[in-house]
Amino acid sequence: QFTPRVFSGIQPSGGLTLGNYLGAIKRFVDMQGEEFETVYCMVDLHAITAKFLEPETLRKNTRELCAGFIASGIDPEKSILINQSQVPEHAQLGWIFNCVARMGWMQRMTQFKDKAGKNAQNQSLGLFAYPALMAADILIYHATHVPVGEDQKQHVELTRDIAAKFNHDYGVDFFPMAEPVIEGAATRVMSLRDGSKKMSKSDPSDASRINMTDDADAIAKKIRKAKTDPDALPSEAKGLEERPEARNLVNIYAALSEQSVDQVLTEVGGKQFGEFKPMLAELAVDKLAPISSEMARLMNEQDEIDRILTRGAERAREITAPILRQTYDIVGM
Ligand code: ADP
Ligand code: NA
Repeated sequence: QFTPRVFSGIQPSGGLTLGNYLGAIKRFVDMQGEEFETVYCMVDLHAITAKFLEPETLRKNTRELCAGFIASGIDPEKSILINQSQVPEHAQLGWIFNCVARMGWMQRMTQFKDKAGKNAQNQSLGLFAYPALMAADILIYHATHVPVGEDQKQHVELTRDIAAKFNHDYGVDFFPMAEPVIEGAATRVMSLRDGSKKMSKSDPSDASRINMTDDADAIAKKIRKAKTDPDALPSEAKGLEERPEARNLVNIYAALSEQSVDQVLTEVGGKQFGEFKPMLAELAVDKLAPISSEMARLMNEQDEIDRILTRGAERAREITAPILRQTYDIVGM
């Protein structure tokens, strides 16, 4: 009944990490093709939920993220590439979903608890409501598949709950049950200095994180300094179970080289980190350097980027305007 359609987004909150690349962007590129229609989004409405951003900063972040998408291989002809605020139906459906989602559901969102910490009373209302807007981002396209990192799994489940309640309350079968697609070796890239924390662009205090714009020296240095343990690498994945830092580096290697963890360990099992780290650094530089130089080039082509986003928004609205109209009809508006 529903066209196989992929939707996913990234916040232009500044910088892009190796975690965003492996957990999200690289997988967006892999899903482009015959099987799915693909819609990829810079979610600028989400980027202002956490902290105040200077307007110039937000504008620059959005262009840089767009450059990162294209430099990584998102083809604006094959995919619909958009900036969220240019497609107003996202926010319009978001309001309807604010009235479908329950307070109790939102209060269970672990990402809000993580981001707000002990200071929930001082967070924006938008940060609390953000998963309902994310549900609208997905469902305004009737998207069926949502490639994300592991940290977003709960939000995609909430999206299904919202779709199910809407369908049930209004007695329709209108919104699909979107499936999270969480696959590959790097669904959760951890910080290189603390194997218990996610590598995140939203954590500026973590200088160990690898940015997509880092040069070869910076990447090599960060990998050399990455926290590890004194043991050699095991030859099977189960030997990594109690070794989060070692596992993280092997996961990164596997994702970058498009192999499974076991394939990688067949190659590197028995090696010490002193030998493995330079291999990883070389691989990371190989994969990231062409992307970062292409990003730098595109950042100087602002008119081109603006034109791509204007065109993307026009194509998107051919899908979103009718779905919003039908939603309003169902609701009685
Ligand atoms: P961030 O948390 O870095 O600010 P976003 O919230 O904009 O990033 O998330 C964009 C996408 O990148 C999401 O699909 C998210 O799951 C994915 N992602 C973010 N960090 C990581 C990570 N460390 N490992 C794997 N995927 C990640
Ligand atoms: Na995130």
